[in-house]
Amino acid sequence: METAASSTSSRCRYSYEEYKETADWLLAQTEQRPKVAIICGSGLGGLADLLGDKQVFKYEEIPHFPTSTVPGHAGQLVFGTLQGRECVCMQGRFHFYEGYDIHTVTYPVRVFSLLGVETVIVTNAAGGLNGSYNVGDVMLIKDHINMPGFAGQNPLSGHNDNRFGDRFPCMSDAYDRKLMALAKQTAEEQGCGSFLQEGVYCMLAGPSYETIAECRLLQMLGADAVGMSTVPEVVVARHCGLRVLGLSLITNKVVTDYDSPEKANHEEVLETTQRRTQDLQRLVSHLVTKI
Ligand code: HPA
Repeated sequence: METAASSTSSRCRYSYEEYKETADWLLAQTEQRPKVAIICGSGLGGLADLLGDKQVFKYEEIPHFPTSTVPGHAGQLVFGTLQGRECVCMQGRFHFYEGYDIHTVTYPVRVFSLLGVETVIVTNAAGGLNGSYNVGDVMLIKDHINMPGFAGQNPLSGHNDNRFGDRFPCMSDAYDRKLMALAKQTAEEQGCGSFLQEGVYCMLAGPSYETIAECRLLQMLGADAVGMSTVPEVVVARHCGLRVLGLSLITNKVVTDYDSPEKANHEEVLETTQRRTQDLQRLVSHLVTKI
């Protein structure tokens, strides 16, 4: 089977012209000019189905856009309105563990910026490291640990194109405080306050889940949740000046005890996303009206 790494859709670096051609093609296809983009995490793509006045573009029909190599993965960009506000949703993201290089994983984010998007909402499924979290909690991401970045996998490595942003962008303000406050307020209004948390997300490359020793290490490092996405997209979004809000759905509790019979598994992750998907959709759709 062709993997992302072996396909022509996974590349080490893209030129400004390629991003521009993608954006210009989309701008010519739709009259919508969304200021908000939403990247839907695993099992959370249902949000895109809620959009009104939908215009859908399959990834494979968009010039230069990476294509999904995973069978059954919805890979499409959906333009439309949520509670009357225009937005664009990525239904299906590109994960590093699928074999995409780190530049390909983040390709859509620069396209969003060239479309005129100003705010990106990123969602993901994550394992809970913080012992006080429950399965089904929603964590507002206040900061991240870029573990692949520690190992040289930073999407900004290589030549810096100043048209997107600075060579050395700040990341201490990656997650917008005002958007977080707005999300908290919206969660209270929408009856989601009782399961809203705030914490630090750590990205690992995956696809294997963490060992017990790794989970204990991440806890010592101050991470509250662990997952396999989001951070590269946030780094690129901040580089090009987009405001970011991140939401992690805690789909499982990580195992930190050698006597525990529990095992991390994808079925539990999907079950939890199904159970909470409507709450998350309500939260995000009301939030976009306030941005
Ligand atoms: N670990 C890493 N990624 C995840 C997990 C986890 O426990 N749950 C959902 N995504």
